[in-house]
Amino acid sequence: MTADDSVTLAAAWPLFALRIRSERLVLRLPTDEDLVRLIAVAMAGIHSPDEMPFGIAWSTLPSPAFERGFLQHHWGMRAGWSPETWQLNLLIERDGEPIGSQSVHAERFAVMRTVDTGSWLGRTYQGKGYGREMRAAVLALAFDGLCARVALTEAFIDNAASSGVSRSLGYEENGRGSLAPEGIARETQRFRMTVEGWRSRPRSPVTIEGLDACRELFGA
Ligand SMILES: CC(C)(COP(=O)(O)OP(=O)(O)OC[C@H]1O[C@@H](n2cnc3c(N)ncnc32)[C@H](O)[C@@H]1OP(=O)(O)O)[C@@H](O)C(=O)NCCC(=O)NCCS
Repeated sequence: MTADDSVTLAAAWPLFALRIRSERLVLRLPTDEDLVRLIAVAMAGIHSPDEMPFGIAWSTLPSPAFERGFLQHHWGMRAGWSPETWQLNLLIERDGEPIGSQSVHAERFAVMRTVDTGSWLGRTYQGKGYGREMRAAVLALAFDGLCARVALTEAFIDNAASSGVSRSLGYEENGRGSLAPEGIARETQRFRMTVEGWRSRPRSPVTIEGLDACRELFGA
């Protein structure tokens, strides 16, 4: 048997060919080499040591547990993918350089048409509008590309930047929750946006490439 040159990573797993392009950013599924570069961005710092903005305290693990946990998380999301339960952990690139990550997750998407999102940027890239731009890009994928009806997100009450992104894009408050990444429950603000809310205001242009080959994987 001879090797078939037509079999590529992107042909076998079309999510690798998905590209979401916004004004300054490209969002795509990271390869293992990209993950190594992304680890370096994360290790340079995402938040100050006395903060924990995430629901799971992954960002304060010491090396080498940090790097191993980071890789296992991304590998786990790839390996556990099914149309019933998926989480797309996208690399954010600006001028070809990694600056952070934007995730979008769904359960039984074909039925629920609901996504939730999470994100982080290296500290030097924060406060420049990239967080807003990458969330808008992934909402364009969800609402315009995949016909989602609802997008949810959640942030600790003191996370002004994350809540700032949600408010700025027009999410509505959706009650309070709580998470305990470090063993102590802390209050969160939940946010919700409907497709009608998404369509109710002008949005910056976003282009999506390679989606048709992925629709079945998304259950869309
Ligand atoms: C949350 C995060 C992704 C937001 O991205 P960002 O690029 O810093 O945010 P932006 O510059 O796009 O700002 C978005 C909005 O929030 C506002 N904002 C940003 N930082 C703010 C702050 N510290 N205080 C108040 N408002 C803030 C901005 O003014 C902007 O509002 P506008 O569009 O109405 O002007 C980023 O700050 C980050 O990675 N933080 C650490 C990790 C984290 O908290 N992840 C989310 C966990 S839920």
